Amino acid sequence: MILVTGGAGFIGANFVLDWLANPDADRILNIDKLTYAGNLATLAPLESDSRHIFVHGDIGDQDLVRRLLQEYKPRAIINFAAESHVDRSIYGPAEFIQTNIVGTFNLLECARQYWSTLQDLEKEQFRFHHVSTDEVYGSLSASDRAFRETNPYEPNSPYSASKAASDHLVRAWFHTYGLPVVITNCSNNYGPYHFPEKLIPLVILNALDGKPLPVYGDGQQIRDWLYVGDHCFAIREVLANGRPGETYNIGGWNEKANLEVVNTICKILDELKPRADQKSYAEQITFVKDRPGHDRRYAIDASKIEKELGWRPAETFDTGIRKTVQWYLDNPAWVQGVVTGSYRDWLEKQYFN
Ligand code: NAD
Ligand code: TYD
Repeated sequence: MILVTGGAGFIGANFVLDWLANPDADRILNIDKLTYAGNLATLAPLESDSRHIFVHGDIGDQDLVRRLLQEYKPRAIINFAAESHVDRSIYGPAEFIQTNIVGTFNLLECARQYWSTLQDLEKEQFRFHHVSTDEVYGSLSASDRAFRETNPYEPNSPYSASKAASDHLVRAWFHTYGLPVVITNCSNNYGPYHFPEKLIPLVILNALDGKPLPVYGDGQQIRDWLYVGDHCFAIREVLANGRPGETYNIGGWNEKANLEVVNTICKILDELKPRADQKSYAEQITFVKDRPGHDRRYAIDASKIEKELGWRPAETFDTGIRKTVQWYLDNPAWVQGVVTGSYRDWLEKQYFN
């Protein structure tokens, strides 16, 4: 049994689905609070799979987490649960402090107490895997070297500051208490089941809906893009073979400016689902006010995980983005379910008020 938190969100759900695609895999206990970003429809294929146990709950709920650890005795915890959207963190940071920092603290304390009751071998093999972001390292200039695991933390947004704080807690629980932790810091994920508040799914769905494609500022901010399936594979590798107390950066070797990403999506849509008027979707690109404190560039040096664990991403940006666009075209029911939810309120606040 492994315990996954936030397994109804974008990356967590992809991880759960990938994990259970292996018939020999351990069972999964999945704790998720089902915030606006949690979507059980993503996990619908597992409805009759007894290897997946879903618990609607908060990682900050000490009684619940303690009870579940006692009852299910997982060999590992993988912590995906978080508030994850930078723009939301600017409007309302409180939830980010609560879940990302206090929630992770609670999970660490519950894990430590449970781990201390394990026998020697189980104790040694136990892992607390914390999923984090490259945003903790701050912003790079065009000529700076890509982030390494040794870069100092310089978070700039409430989101990245809360993730940085949680990383520090996880590190401290290793050094002080010996809890066998691993931390992974990855770049921007994209792929199936991505909630359309983030750039790539937002652009795909707005394009198809005939809506503006909002590009912040000059659109020259750079992100490294990692296909979510590659990320899930990397997590499995780190969980199996990563060294306790270590941090591993995970990236796609795909640095792209936002405007290039948006134009690429438009080109693929022009080919796969041309507009009725035969014009390009790129006509819908609209430059909007920049995000406050917008980080200019993120880039990941993923050579440590490559050298130590032999992991490399299978997808290039070209192959991954094409798969992703195709997935959104092929899954209108999932999209519809999301678009009719509270996602609408957020769009109002962000783009129309
Ligand atoms: P997401 O917002 O899609 O999903 C987060 C999930 O956590 C949701 O299902 C939500 O219901 C759940 N959740 C939130 N608060 C909770 C709580 N208190 N208790 C239990 N569950 C709670 O996020 P994601 O994109 O899947 O990201 C997963 C993890 O990966 C996060 O820790 C995030 O910081 C990190 N990360 C994401 C990216 C990315 O590009 N998406 C990049 C780097 C790191
Ligand atoms: P996002 O997907 O929110 O991820 P993050 O902020 O964690 O990197 O944004 C990716 C990039 O796209 C970021 O530089 C902000 C930009 N962006 C836009 O230009 N327009 C948008 O509507 C959104 C949501 C993001």
